[in-house]
Amino acid sequence: MIRIKSRSQIKLIEKSGRIIAELFEEVQDRIKPGTTTLQIDRWIGEFIKKRGAISAFRGYRGYPADSCISVNEEVVHGIPSNRKLKEGDIVSIDVGVKLNGYYADAARTFPVGKISLEKARLIRVTREALYEGIRQARAGNRIGDISFAIQSYVERHNYSVVKDLFGHGVGEALHEDPVIPNFGWPKTGERLRDGMVLAIEPMVNQGRDKVKVLPDGWTVVTEDGKPSAHFEHSIAIIDGEPKILTEIIDGE
Ligand code: MF3
Ligand code: CO
Repeated sequence: MIRIKSRSQIKLIEKSGRIIAELFEEVQDRIKPGTTTLQIDRWIGEFIKKRGAISAFRGYRGYPADSCISVNEEVVHGIPSNRKLKEGDIVSIDVGVKLNGYYADAARTFPVGKISLEKARLIRVTREALYEGIRQARAGNRIGDISFAIQSYVERHNYSVVKDLFGHGVGEALHEDPVIPNFGWPKTGERLRDGMVLAIEPMVNQGRDKVKVLPDGWTVVTEDGKPSAHFEHSIAIIDGEPKILTEIIDGE
């Protein structure tokens, strides 16, 4: 069942989202060759705590960190560790926060120093695919319109979407209905309406779409070892239109 949120609930989710948006603005400067993913996670944990919020991930099904940090062929759910970032890596950081009982969830892929043109293109296409999906998140459209927009944009650029993991409703819990696949057909699935809050999150592989989970039980990697990128925003449908809750719009 999809939980419709009131304006005041959406304001609260937006407060959580704002923390993630600000965190992402600041974390960029900390992503440098030689930094470990655990150092980044510690910084993220401190940032969330300073804002009076808590990580939505730590303890979720036993997850042991405040964020997920996934490098290169790691798609999502990478566990922060003593792995040092190197020049040319790409690093996907996924953060969920809970404030006053309300959750927001977002992710971005960052370059480490100077990266190849191919990796830069993968990041750009994944980010754009997210915005293509968000554009379809309007009252009257259906979930499949979001899914199709993402898949067709990605495949037009000769990359593949991961089919084993999905976007989701968010707000009163980290994961709510509906499930939002990054592939599908227009005019299919649940109808979208005002008050829905959705975490849309394309995971895009440079090579084949197949992924597997490492023996740590969390880290999802591409089977072919090629890089993957991930962008996610939490959005609300207000007055029929998508409003991004995890991004700072200039002047706001
Ligand atoms: N951010 C992920 C998602 O979008 C959830 C991470 S799983 C966790 O669904 F265990 F790390 F929390
Ligand atoms: Co999510």
